[in-house]
Amino acid sequence: MSEKLPFFDEEVLYEVIVSTVDDTKQPNAAPMGVRYSNGQLILQPYLTRTTYQNLLTNKEAVINVTTSPELFVKAALFQEEFNAEDFLTSLVSSAPFLKACAHSFIVVRVSSFSIDDLKARFLCEIVRVDLSEFRPRLYTRAFSSLIEILIHATRVLAFQRDKDKESEVSRLLELIDYHQKIIGRVTSKNSMYQILMRKINSKINQVRV
Ligand SMILES: Cc1cc2nc3c(=O)[nH]c(=O)nc-3n(C[C@H](O)[C@H](O)[C@H](O)COP(=O)(O)O)c2cc1C
Repeated sequence: MSEKLPFFDEEVLYEVIVSTVDDTKQPNAAPMGVRYSNGQLILQPYLTRTTYQNLLTNKEAVINVTTSPELFVKAALFQEEFNAEDFLTSLVSSAPFLKACAHSFIVVRVSSFSIDDLKARFLCEIVRVDLSEFRPRLYTRAFSSLIEILIHATRVLAFQRDKDKESEVSRLLELIDYHQKIIGRVTSKNSMYQILMRKINSKINQVRV
């Protein structure tokens, strides 16, 4: 399939939620960056991620296209809150899509892969596109800052037991604080963004004690 993907510019990294299954059909959903290049989608999970293992064994994935802050927070830091009913399977892939992203997903299949240091690079062919109900949100700085916070928070969690990474963790916590201040400026206390921020903070504080 080589038709142009709607919404995607070539050679730009977009943040999406990738769903996959393991060899026991256990579904998994995680935020990942994806790049559209020469008619294919490129995913680069770290070798430590479940997404990497699942792509390696199963070769199939669904790119869930969303701008839902709640979904990004859940998939990044609270995966245990997903249950089987949150996933649906299409006829064309064993990898499920998120029910919340019905009609805003792309089914892909790995065509080749390589490993570059700590990350893999999966080139994926596009099997099916349904973006008929993708509705981007109005732009708010709160969303960009939330995504930055989640990226930094997933690193803090990954590095938490690594003594050599203590100064990197402090740097990441400062960045989280910076983006949190932006969210504080552009939203009010009872907004969805600040509610999610409080949830993220309690998760970070739990693992930091
Ligand atoms: C917006 C965003 C983008 C991310 N992009 C990637 C990525 O491209 N590769 C990666 O390995 N992890 C990425 N992460 C981190 C993973 O989503 C996170 O570590 C997740 O817990 C991995 O889940 P998994 O082990 O179930 O695959 C990203 C996180 C966020 C919030």
